[in-house]
Amino acid sequence: MKLVPSSIQPTSRHYFVHSYAKINLTLDVLGKRADGYHELATIMQTVDLFDTLHFSITDDEEVHLSCTKRELNTPTNLVVRAAEALRQHLGIRQGLCIELQKQVPMAAGLGGGSSNAAVTLLALTDWWQLPLTSTDLLPIAASLGSDVPFFLFAGLAYCTGRGEHVKPLAPYIPSNMLWLLLLKPAISVSTPAVFKALPASDYTDDTHSRAIKTALLNKKPLPVEDLHNGLERNVLLLYPEVEQARAALLNAGAPLVRLSGSGPTLFAPFSDLASAAEVHAKLHGQYEVYLTHPIFPSSLGRKFI
Ligand code: C5P
Repeated sequence: MKLVPSSIQPTSRHYFVHSYAKINLTLDVLGKRADGYHELATIMQTVDLFDTLHFSITDDEEVHLSCTKRELNTPTNLVVRAAEALRQHLGIRQGLCIELQKQVPMAAGLGGGSSNAAVTLLALTDWWQLPLTSTDLLPIAASLGSDVPFFLFAGLAYCTGRGEHVKPLAPYIPSNMLWLLLLKPAISVSTPAVFKALPASDYTDDTHSRAIKTALLNKKPLPVEDLHNGLERNVLLLYPEVEQARAALLNAGAPLVRLSGSGPTLFAPFSDLASAAEVHAKLHGQYEVYLTHPIFPSSLGRKFI
């Protein structure tokens, strides 16, 4: 039985927090489940591309959201749902205002909305000094989306089930993955539509994800053939814009290109900044590109005022 705080005790008047994006180093789709979800094995890594959230207390009992992307200003936004779920879990009525500065592309395979939701749970728990651990937050996170539990831990993790079973891995950045070029084609892709269109012939076992996990744990170079995303073949087939973007990255000199999640964002790893910057310069202006790197957020980039 949780101790329900009689009144909220914020540690500061304002609370700022970064909400990082992720890429999927692997994504094995094992098969379709009776509940409609797909059984997965996936390795996720947070990258230094982030949204910023600002929390402040209000005098009413509502959760208000103000977002730099107008289409996200809805009561169904995962940030609002996360705050409501936490308040309901502990019987808290304190109102709050959340400002969300969006930089991570939306519906892009980068987990932006899921990250915002997880960070909202963590930030409110910390800021309001609530008696909950990350493990306590897991069921709420999983109820909000399959990727949300990963972002409670961030960094590098091996995830199974529909994605919600998270096994954090020791921080390690392979030498050929020091820099990451992300390219977001100018289309939006619906995750449910991508999973629905996936033929059973693209199902695999968890071999690829386990091979990459073993290499990461042993701090070895990653076997390139195991950097496999089971959704990629079909996404490239169904969305010519993604195939064109992939060709553009390869033509510009990227040694390797993979889809992140259900896309449409592609990522290309590099061992040195100069090579990554050269490809970035060739594609910048023509495509939405981000030159970034893996990150292991120790404190989620929290800032207090
Ligand atoms: O869990 P989340 O709400 O993010 O999933 C969005 C949709 O993506 C699901 O409703 C389902 O159609 C699909 N999905 C899936 N298998 C997963 C994760 C998501 O089929 N493991």
